[in-house]
Amino acid sequence: MDIRIAPSILSADFTRLEAEVREVEAAGADAHHVDVMDGRFVPNITVGPLVVAALRRVVKLPLEVHLMIVEPEDHLEAFAKAGSAMIYVHAEACVHLDRTLARIRDLGCRPAVAINPSTPAAQVSEVLHRVDRVLVMTVNPGFGGQGILQSSVPKISWLAAEAGRRGIHLEIEVDGGVDPETAPVVARAGAHQVVAGNAVYGKPDRAAAIRAIRESLRNVG
Ligand code: DX5
Ligand code: ZN
Repeated sequence: MDIRIAPSILSADFTRLEAEVREVEAAGADAHHVDVMDGRFVPNITVGPLVVAALRRVVKLPLEVHLMIVEPEDHLEAFAKAGSAMIYVHAEACVHLDRTLARIRDLGCRPAVAINPSTPAAQVSEVLHRVDRVLVMTVNPGFGGQGILQSSVPKISWLAAEAGRRGIHLEIEVDGGVDPETAPVVARAGAHQVVAGNAVYGKPDRAAAIRAIRESLRNVG
């Protein structure tokens, strides 16, 4: 099955970030996933627009910017200017989700909405027409290298069925605990793309790591 893979720089070696992103590009990655955390929406703090802009200067693939921050609407312009191709906001972090997603598109980026494991998929039902993609979190956001929460997997199939029923073109991406063992599970449920942090950047040979995920998907679908 043709599933896209977006390595998350969260597990990369930040002392040599340029070399890291170039390595996964050469290894056949499809996009770069950038995890932005503010120490409020999630317990961890990571990077901001400055790092997105720096990456933009050295990467060829699109930068997908996953905002795990409160009040993301205040920072959309900065992330758009920094060169984000796609901006993900969390449904749980947006009081006016519809407006925020429309604003992302107005800024020239692709809008996506993310949902935590405890959030029902139906919570984004009214904005499916506004987004290019839904990001189903299969871990509680904040840290890389956690195990997948199997209880979140049925949300992938629910979203795929709902989009199909309503004739909405929707991509479904899965984030958290994806590796060669779990990738086929989420692919069978209907995922089009997976984020892989630990399973790619956590391995010494990134090309082999990406190959292992692709190989695991060969007999799916
Ligand atoms: C979790 C982040 C993920 C994370 C995934 O808060 O949103 O993108 O980096 O890492 P792995 O693949 O290691 O679970
Ligand atoms: Zn993420």
